[in-house]
Amino acid sequence: MKKRFFAILLMAMTALIVSACGTSKTSDTSGTGSEAGKKELRVVTDAAYAPFEYMEGDKIVGFDIDFLKAVAEEAGYKLKIEHVGWDPIFVEIKSERADIAISSITINDDRKQTYDFSLPYFLSTNKILVREDSDIKSAADLKGKVVAVQNGTTGQEAMDKLLGKNNEDIKKFENNNLAIMEMMSGGAAAVVADNGVVEVYAKNNPKEKLKVIEDSGSFEAEFYGLLFPKGTELKADFDKAIEKVFENGTYEKIYQEWFGQKPNMEKLKEAQKASK
Ligand code: ARG
Repeated sequence: MKKRFFAILLMAMTALIVSACGTSKTSDTSGTGSEAGKKELRVVTDAAYAPFEYMEGDKIVGFDIDFLKAVAEEAGYKLKIEHVGWDPIFVEIKSERADIAISSITINDDRKQTYDFSLPYFLSTNKILVREDSDIKSAADLKGKVVAVQNGTTGQEAMDKLLGKNNEDIKKFENNNLAIMEMMSGGAAAVVADNGVVEVYAKNNPKEKLKVIEDSGSFEAEFYGLLFPKGTELKADFDKAIEKVFENGTYEKIYQEWFGQKPNMEKLKEAQKASK
């Protein structure tokens, strides 16, 4: 009883913090080197997806943020990064109120119809986060179980496919932290989300006794890209800059800093070639 109350309290607090961030329009104007005369771009993100993009106090930080700053520096642009939430990202880009979105956004055919993507910059796959004592060993074991996902993500898409669209066992949340809270409070048996996120969460929260299940037969390899309005002139500049930071070692350095290991450069370069 007490535990349940605490979990609900935590959830309410998170919701409060998240909505507070949304309304205060947290922003961060980055700046290194000579900024004079550079065009400032409005960048939108959902900063509730550590370690890729998340709030540290009122600052937006993460792998994606460091990567984009390096690329923008190379391309000669200034950035103003705002946390707007996941669904609003797509509204802001479609309406061209924002120039770029970065948010661990998977490049897929569905999104490509409405948006432009940069070259792929990150290799990812969905994985399953469960309690250490869970008997779930694969995606197939999720059938008949309640699964929490972030609404409108490839994690949701994978569950729609596996369990059936509109299946009530798929609980959808506005951000991924709320999905994890739901599992922690006993409202779901698992969370399906990007491996980088669930692996870091399980590792950083050992007291919560969680484990991560991989199922490469059920979850495809995915690549993240920068999201632009369709027809943007920025794509050419940013693609060139991405290639540069891949070549000059900057990408590997940032990757190593955040993940403590080397990226799979071969697979990434292959995907970049294929997307041209
Ligand atoms: N890679 C997944 C997708 O594109 C999930 C991304 C969620 N990102 C976030 N910042 N919440 O659907």
